[in-house]
Amino acid sequence: MVTPGTFIKASISAGKEFFRPPVDDAARAPHRPPVLVPIRSIGPTHGERIEKHLLALEPHDRYLRFGYAARDEQIQRYVAGLNFERDEIFGIYNRKLELIAMAHLALSIDPELKSCAEFGVSVLKHARGRGYGARLFDRAVMHSRNEGVSMMFIHALSENTAMLNIARKAGAVIERDGSESEAYLKLPPADLDSRMTEIVEEQIAQTDYRLKVQAKQFWNILAMVQEVRQGVRDSRDRMPI
Ligand SMILES: CC(C)(COP(=O)(O)OP(=O)(O)OC[C@H]1O[C@@H](n2cnc3c(N)ncnc32)[C@H](O)[C@@H]1OP(=O)(O)O)[C@@H](O)C(=O)NCCC(=O)NCCS
Repeated sequence: MVTPGTFIKASISAGKEFFRPPVDDAARAPHRPPVLVPIRSIGPTHGERIEKHLLALEPHDRYLRFGYAARDEQIQRYVAGLNFERDEIFGIYNRKLELIAMAHLALSIDPELKSCAEFGVSVLKHARGRGYGARLFDRAVMHSRNEGVSMMFIHALSENTAMLNIARKAGAVIERDGSESEAYLKLPPADLDSRMTEIVEEQIAQTDYRLKVQAKQFWNILAMVQEVRQGVRDSRDRMPI
């Protein structure tokens, strides 16, 4: 649950982030999970970023994510076919506004299974082990509850220890069938806490994203100004005295 304290800490850390130039995620020191990971709901305008994220997955990760070693065209078709109206796509962005982790919660289209949803997730290699996969799972659980979903399914290969760990820890029942496993998690109905927490978390994530956009623009302008100044300095140095 998001307490007022967590909210304040998250806002302060978002403010501090503004003044730090973007760094390469891969070059970051081993990570301590932040107080609150800003996870935002993504709309169709982010299609290109979703595609870039999925195309960055290595063949084995594509196999784990989709159940087959999806080729680039298959990923492009998957992204083009995403239904943003019915389903929910969640994402975590870094300060360079790259989508480093995302989840797809597909709500059932079968009227008989209206209260079911399927969860799929991917985290870029350099951002793994920081708890993003688990946070996205928690967020999907909360959203599912608020949407009246009572059962969440996760289809994973039996070798996918990380994914099965996340599901098991959340209380899912896992049924192994050879190389494939099916995990299902029964969800309690929504309550005031789940509804309020989702609203607050979404607000924090939207604010965080807007700050990242502004910070990126700020650092771009600063880099441009420095380039111009360097150009002026260079041409001054070349001038005959
Ligand atoms: C599965 C995946 C999303 C996990 O993301 P992540 O952000 O690294 O996961 P987390 O940091 O939240 O870790 C979740 C749990 O798995 C464990 N874990 C992480 N990587 C692991 C690994 N390679 N082997 C064993 N356990 C691992 C973590 O220790 C953690 O367990 P804990 O809470 O008991 O410590 C990521 O590995 C991935 O994108 N894989 C490729 C796509 C995929 O497999 N998708 C899932 C199928 S839909």
